[in-house]
Amino acid sequence: MRQHHIVLLPGDGIGPEITSITKRLLEKVSGQFNFKLSFEEQKIGGSAIESGGTPLPEATLESCKRSDAVLLAAIGAPVYDTLPREQRPETGLLALREGLNLYANLRPVKIRKSLIEASTLKSDVIKEVDLIVVRELTSGIYFGKPKGRIEGADGERAFNTMSYSSKEIDCIAKLAFDLARERKLKVCSVDKANVLDVSQLWRERVELMSKDYSDINLSHLYIDNAAMQLVRSPGEFDVILTGNLFGDILSDEAAMLTGSIGMLPSASLSSNGPGLFEPVHGSAPDLAGQNKANPMAMILSAAMMLRIGLNESPAADALEQAVENVLDSGYRTVDLMCEGCTELSCSEIGNRILNSF
Ligand code: IPM
Ligand code: MG
Repeated sequence: MRQHHIVLLPGDGIGPEITSITKRLLEKVSGQFNFKLSFEEQKIGGSAIESGGTPLPEATLESCKRSDAVLLAAIGAPVYDTLPREQRPETGLLALREGLNLYANLRPVKIRKSLIEASTLKSDVIKEVDLIVVRELTSGIYFGKPKGRIEGADGERAFNTMSYSSKEIDCIAKLAFDLARERKLKVCSVDKANVLDVSQLWRERVELMSKDYSDINLSHLYIDNAAMQLVRSPGEFDVILTGNLFGDILSDEAAMLTGSIGMLPSASLSSNGPGLFEPVHGSAPDLAGQNKANPMAMILSAAMMLRIGLNESPAADALEQAVENVLDSGYRTVDLMCEGCTELSCSEIGNRILNSF
């Protein structure tokens, strides 16, 4: 029997609530599709700071490295916002991305018919949306050196460095082009090449790579224009290829096309080790502990894990279909509520999904 070992990282805020229902779903779906899952829970973020003083304990990173896939819920809470940078929950997540070489972050955004009314945009604008943001995740300004704070003649100065090597750009560009081949054959690369040297190199390398992909329609947009086009005519996009910082911003913007960030899954992939799968939303401290959170982005992240990380596509399809069925029946969590729908708690909607496959 096929066996997969999963490290679960519930993290902070709503994390534990959405993890527990997702785990039950995974247990059920594995039974139905004849494979075995083993789970190991580890700490990250605020919960790790509380117990050991660091946001990414060595034991967590080592377990993740040994696993077949990592499923993370969310990290962070306002109480940690004033800690020194190296002790903040976000630093733990960045260290995990770096430690697992998760260079590619995939964030698919697809409009579901049942949720079209949940968007703040007109249904005509969003009805065709089916795009994926491919964000470089272990370099760029998030990791660039030098960085820091210094005393200068004008007082204190702080700085970060946005840098990319040709090799880093080539790796993420190749992944985006390959992905476009399985989709609508379009790549839109987003940069700021009219101003930044790093973006000029980015654009040159992406152009060069496109020579090997004559079947793919490549376009380029500056980040400011891309942000505008994403709300003006989001249906035009297929694969959006971009760097770490621009991808962070555009993926939140793209998420809102669907009406709720509570629906969006993501995958972070390495070229040679386990992937990390996590909802795009954060730890939602305002909802934590109230059984009100929307667990669907985490459930859909688990589906991405099954498909991409564990090669269990039929099980992934079943999980996604179960979510679809529950939405089609008019059940909603509070973030998605609309007229004529039935509001359910986190655990209630989880149970509905559990009982619909
Ligand atoms: C994301 C988040 C993270 C990021 C934070 C929590 C460090 O915003 O995954 O998009 O900036 O990458
Ligand atoms: Mg973000």
